[in-house]
Amino acid sequence: MKVEKIPVAPGNFNLKNYDEAYANFDWADVEKEFTWYETGKLNMAYEAIDRHLLTERKDKTALLYSDAVREESYSFAQLSELSNKFGNVLRNLGIAKGDRVFVFMPRTPELYVSVLGTLKVGAIVGPLFEAFMEAAVRDRLENSEAVAIVTTPALLSRVPVKDLPALKHVILVGAKGELEEGQVSFEAAMADATSDFEIEWVDREDGMILHYTSGSTGKPKGVLHVHNAMIQHLQTGKWIVDLQENDVYWCTADPGWVTGTSYGIFSPWLNGATMVVRGGRFTPEDWYKTIEKYKVTVWYSAPTAFRMLMGAGDEVIKQFDLSSLRHVLSVGEPLNPEVVYWGLRAFNHRIHDNWWMTETGGQLISNFRCMEIKPGSMGKPFPGIYAAIIDDQGNELPPNRMGNLAIRTGWPAMMRQIWSNPAKYQEYFNIPGWYVSGDSAYKDEEGYFWFQGRIDDVINTSGERVGPFEVESKLVEHPAVAEAGVIGKPDPVRGEIIKAFISLRDGFEPSEELMEDIRKFVKEGLAAHAAPREIEFRDKLPKTRSGKIMRRVLKAWELGLPTGDLSTMED
Ligand code: WT7
Repeated sequence: MKVEKIPVAPGNFNLKNYDEAYANFDWADVEKEFTWYETGKLNMAYEAIDRHLLTERKDKTALLYSDAVREESYSFAQLSELSNKFGNVLRNLGIAKGDRVFVFMPRTPELYVSVLGTLKVGAIVGPLFEAFMEAAVRDRLENSEAVAIVTTPALLSRVPVKDLPALKHVILVGAKGELEEGQVSFEAAMADATSDFEIEWVDREDGMILHYTSGSTGKPKGVLHVHNAMIQHLQTGKWIVDLQENDVYWCTADPGWVTGTSYGIFSPWLNGATMVVRGGRFTPEDWYKTIEKYKVTVWYSAPTAFRMLMGAGDEVIKQFDLSSLRHVLSVGEPLNPEVVYWGLRAFNHRIHDNWWMTETGGQLISNFRCMEIKPGSMGKPFPGIYAAIIDDQGNELPPNRMGNLAIRTGWPAMMRQIWSNPAKYQEYFNIPGWYVSGDSAYKDEEGYFWFQGRIDDVINTSGERVGPFEVESKLVEHPAVAEAGVIGKPDPVRGEIIKAFISLRDGFEPSEELMEDIRKFVKEGLAAHAAPREIEFRDKLPKTRSGKIMRRVLKAWELGLPTGDLSTMED
């Protein structure tokens, strides 16, 4: 493979020498930056927000929010006060440490206040992507036995309150008219609440946030992170996101996904950064306009967004002043080399790819500002992280050999549980001493990691992880569908799209209308991003003798590749 190097970007990055930093780094030194190192009292919301009130950051802008109708800004002091109030709202409802509180709403300031207030009472917050439909909401609230949800009247119909015995409180943002039993108006409760609040101090290993993510089999898994993750959020924010005091930082990810919390709430605010949040949907022009208007300096986005912008053409870029930008990052799926070259050409910036997962809680491998970039590579491990390519027995493989991308266990932001499923948790650690990511990769002679693919069948569409099993399960609920097999099909903009192979029940014939109806069924039952963009009807699907649909064979059909060993396939 041809390896291109892009020279080190100028900037006031404080990690001058990667090798030296890597050799001397100790997470324990980062801990010392927090006062809880001495007091033992900690809380993520305190460290991210309240702590700054003791400094000159008190009145600094923490949040610059805008959508089609609102335009607001909040200082650290204001966010502190509002989240204190919301903490009191929750406390008045009897919500306490360890309870699960979900937030299910569009990206608005109320969402951020709700997340922070939930953490302040020591409860565990469960963010839900606003596009989730009833089945997805139900699975998550049921599994975690959530006691409260903060949502909006528009989304309420997707919360099956009556089927969720643990769910006691529905807090409605923007409610109008009469409330039903168990419902609370966010605005009214906030108006009644005082901002005097005694924060709930927790232990570093206490639960903080629950992000559900997909695997290749079964229902979504509840990945639990603890307050201790702040150590990694702080330091990666300094060395990878490169946050400086005067930065205006824009993370484009929704807090329904881990990037939108770890790097869209915790990391920037732990570092005292000013953060931009855009609500609603936006066009390529809006993306650039946001950068221009807020003079965004650090921009963290995803390959699918960069590819979309690249597709919109360089002419659009010329209409905007993007000269404020000084650092650009990407995560979520492979960053194509051509996108890296486009970034250089179009706005004269290196796009810094980095790798991590919901389960890892924080960034682990990255292209750092201080190092040369090889387009197509995810970069090198963060100091304090030992990453390797191992075989299935746990032996480290030599350079350039493809294998399991694995991390030596024990880093600050590592997940601590799969909610109520210790067996699933254990599956990640079956090779002693290692966390096995499920990605395959290789490492070159210079220590750069190169992503090769997923080992399981998990689909990555526009940076969102979709479990084929969830989609298949929904598909077979459709009255016309007998069997369904779902794969990721390579796509130039979205990375992968969801493609479903379907066999129909007797009495149903393939048609365009039926295809559309099936698509709508998944969209409304699960989530828009989980609906198959392509559907192919087949008389029979390839199955093992035990009846499992062989996605590997579907994929080979799709790509026109040999189907490999078919010895387990039924006739
Ligand atoms: C999976 C994790 C936490 C980041 C958002 C996604 C893929 C992630 C990269 C990258 C190639 C990547 C992997 C990983 N992925 N970053 N830089 N290059 N692939 O979090 O939804 O938990 O997905 O996303 O396959 O396992 P996630």
